[in-house]
Amino acid sequence: MSRPLDRVRAPFPWFGGKRRAAALIWRALGDPPNYVEPFFGSGASLLARPPKLPARARTETRVLGPSVTTGIGLTGVLLDPPYLVAAGRDPSIYAEEDGTASERARAWALEHGDDPKLRIVLCGYEGEHEMPASWRVVKWKAAGGYAAAAGNGENAERERLWLSPHCLRFEPEPEQLQLLEASG
Ligand SMILES: C[S@@+](CC[C@H](N)C(=O)[O-])C[C@H]1O[C@@H](n2cnc3c(N)ncnc32)[C@H](O)[C@@H]1O
Repeated sequence: MSRPLDRVRAPFPWFGGKRRAAALIWRALGDPPNYVEPFFGSGASLLARPPKLPARARTETRVLGPSVTTGIGLTGVLLDPPYLVAAGRDPSIYAEEDGTASERARAWALEHGDDPKLRIVLCGYEGEHEMPASWRVVKWKAAGGYAAAAGNGENAERERLWLSPHCLRFEPEPEQLQLLEASG
């Protein structure tokens, strides 16, 4: 018996948690036998994965080479780095950060986006990432929660997912369609 996508929830709130984006993320990733999520946070996306768990699920933060991705086979990669402060994020969220994770995640995504063995979903705020036209961009809306409490409620409307060319195609909601058309 199948279960709703949001049945397993992260047991605690997390700034930037992707529970509400999980259904979109898994429609884009499909059912890859290997799944890698370097910026794991509360693990909301993995927990919300449709019933059959991947044969392998990894959360390595430093290694994203072939031995944990394409060397195994078709791999879904979720890149959800801390939002760039310059993109409008509350700068006080993390006690320590080097500030480069967003750029490094994007650079990796750009370098590997055309690999047919990879389905990459890159997360960020509107305008945070400039991706080639072969990538699709999908809008989703975060809960008010943490962001609203931090005075960043408007950012809930700026959430975007960039989907690499080999992600699965799916019919977006009308609001998302406008964005897809605007992005080419
Ligand atoms: C936007 S949050 C991810 C939220 C997660 N997708 C969820 O649904 O809960 C970004 C995460 O990246 C972590 N992080 C920050 N810098 C990192 C780094 N250099 N390597 C790995 N993780 C990092 C942060 O601690 C935070 O948990």
